[in-house]
Amino acid sequence: MCGIVGYIGTQQAAPLLTLGLSKLEYRGYDSAGIAVADAAGEASMRRAVGKLRNLQHSLDSAPLAGRAGIGHTRWATHGAPSEINSHPHRDATGTVFVVHNGIIENYAEIRVELEAQGVEFRSQTDTEVLPNLIKRAYDECQNLPRAIRSALQGVRGAYALAVMHSAVPDTVVAVRQTSPLVIGLGEGENFCASDALAILSETRRIIFLDNGEMAFLRAEGVEVFDLESGARRQKEVQQLDWSADSANKGDFPHFMLKEVHEQPAVMERLLHHYADEEKGCIAFPHIGLSREELRGVRRIFIQACGTSWHAGLVGKLLIERLGLISVDVDTSSEFRYRNVAPHTGGAILDSDTLVIAISQSGETADTLAGVQEAKERGLKVISVVNMPASSIVRASDGVIYTHAGPEVSVASTKAYIGQIGALYLLSLYLGEIHGLIDRARMKRRLEKFAEVPRLMREILADDSGIQRAAQRFWLAEHAFFIGRGYGQPSALEGALKLKEISYIHAEGYAAGELKHGPIALIDEKMPVVAIATQGVTYEKILSNMQEVRARGGKLIAVAGEDDEEVGKYADFVLRVPELTESFTPFVVALPMQLLAYHIAVLRDYDVDMPRNLAKSVTVE
Ligand code: F6R
Repeated sequence: MCGIVGYIGTQQAAPLLTLGLSKLEYRGYDSAGIAVADAAGEASMRRAVGKLRNLQHSLDSAPLAGRAGIGHTRWATHGAPSEINSHPHRDATGTVFVVHNGIIENYAEIRVELEAQGVEFRSQTDTEVLPNLIKRAYDECQNLPRAIRSALQGVRGAYALAVMHSAVPDTVVAVRQTSPLVIGLGEGENFCASDALAILSETRRIIFLDNGEMAFLRAEGVEVFDLESGARRQKEVQQLDWSADSANKGDFPHFMLKEVHEQPAVMERLLHHYADEEKGCIAFPHIGLSREELRGVRRIFIQACGTSWHAGLVGKLLIERLGLISVDVDTSSEFRYRNVAPHTGGAILDSDTLVIAISQSGETADTLAGVQEAKERGLKVISVVNMPASSIVRASDGVIYTHAGPEVSVASTKAYIGQIGALYLLSLYLGEIHGLIDRARMKRRLEKFAEVPRLMREILADDSGIQRAAQRFWLAEHAFFIGRGYGQPSALEGALKLKEISYIHAEGYAAGELKHGPIALIDEKMPVVAIATQGVTYEKILSNMQEVRARGGKLIAVAGEDDEEVGKYADFVLRVPELTESFTPFVVALPMQLLAYHIAVLRDYDVDMPRNLAKSVTVE
């Protein structure tokens, strides 16, 4: 939840730091602070409890001058939200300043050791041991890189840091140990941040730090070192194609709504990056496997978590239909314990089996562990990921980026569309490689894909029907979502969206399963959302709806715009364009997302930051 920003260059640091922190406000925090140093190493610090505007007011009335600085938004863990516990923290002599994300697990024993040496602590935080450790180490060796490496040797935990030392005023140091940290490269100035969004308005040239790396930022350049060995590391500079608007809500009241509306553009970007509709061909520049290797694939395992797992379930149907390859889908937390192939210590034995990992963040611990497990078993891994250069990308043989742009709202929407869009194109690609899809068929499919964004925009242009349904059901305590075929993963995803942001207990089911147990729960208080778009199982889902209706359940159907039959059984019909079955997940997702959104707004919940959830789940 905490956020870090650092700057060194030719401009005044304080305004850039507070601007950067404002882009991280969406993560939630309870205090904020900055430390700024001038060229002589004269450093000063300002912190304030509550919203960033409190810090801003204080800086407006008494500005801090200096062209280097570090800033932080804190979400209290060790010690109450108070000014004294806010970051930055400094050593007892006021020489070293540190901002910190994450947790120092052994801070208590370090603190006791430092106190025994006479160090006085001001705060209750785990962080405050760090500036004191760095100060002590620097005093011994008079060399900042060495001091930081030596100070951190005995520190356990997952953290990211930005550090300033008054004796080395031309440098800001950034350290990544598990918690994310990026470097932004400017002209005569450089930045660091816990999230690229914070510095996107200043630069899009980004270095993603790996675990165990530290970067020395100076106005004129950046050097990256291995924290353990001290060896210099060459890092790739990525040019992010994200818009600077990604960090703002624009005219939308919530990021989630903004991101729902960005979905047509995500589809367009996928086509732009991977397909040539005119020629009827697809290419994935970073897929990491040759056409020959992909031709040999006979079995695919998809593994992912949450919404990404739902995208995987759609991907299974697509790949089995268009690529004719058999696909298993697991949640990553289960996949990694399956015995899918013998352990080979990484030697490739099983070249006809492919693993696909799907993740928006690219940092989800379970999915990453699944990738590592697959590699250990000698399997090739392609990841379908939104965040560039993330851990899952680096652990995989190749990547298909979903090009959804940064997703701020915790509830995933546009990343999901990016995932199923990428999987759609992948299934066509595999179909073509396996000789099942010729140029003409490919061209037709791509042309249809290209039409989807316009149809999505039509749904988004008028969501009054969805709002009416939300008004009717916002007080419900439970809900079912049912679907068949492509409607089944869509139902699971609809239920997840509703439960995570509105806190209504919602379950998604394969509609045919209803009568094998869950139907016992149907009564007049149970709304059931039925995905009843046209397809091979359409008649069957109508029967399932009648089963619900006969037991007094209230039905909201998601159905094609020309479907007159469905209205006979449903209390509400949310219309979507009539499409070939394999395209329905793209349009069905929108009313599901908007229904959840409007219900959460009516219930007055924090839509973008639902309780107990984090955007990136880096624990197993
Ligand atoms: C739900 C949601 C989560 C994520 C899941 C996996 O809206 O966002 O269920 O899908 O935590 O995260 P990623 O895709 O980052 O691996």
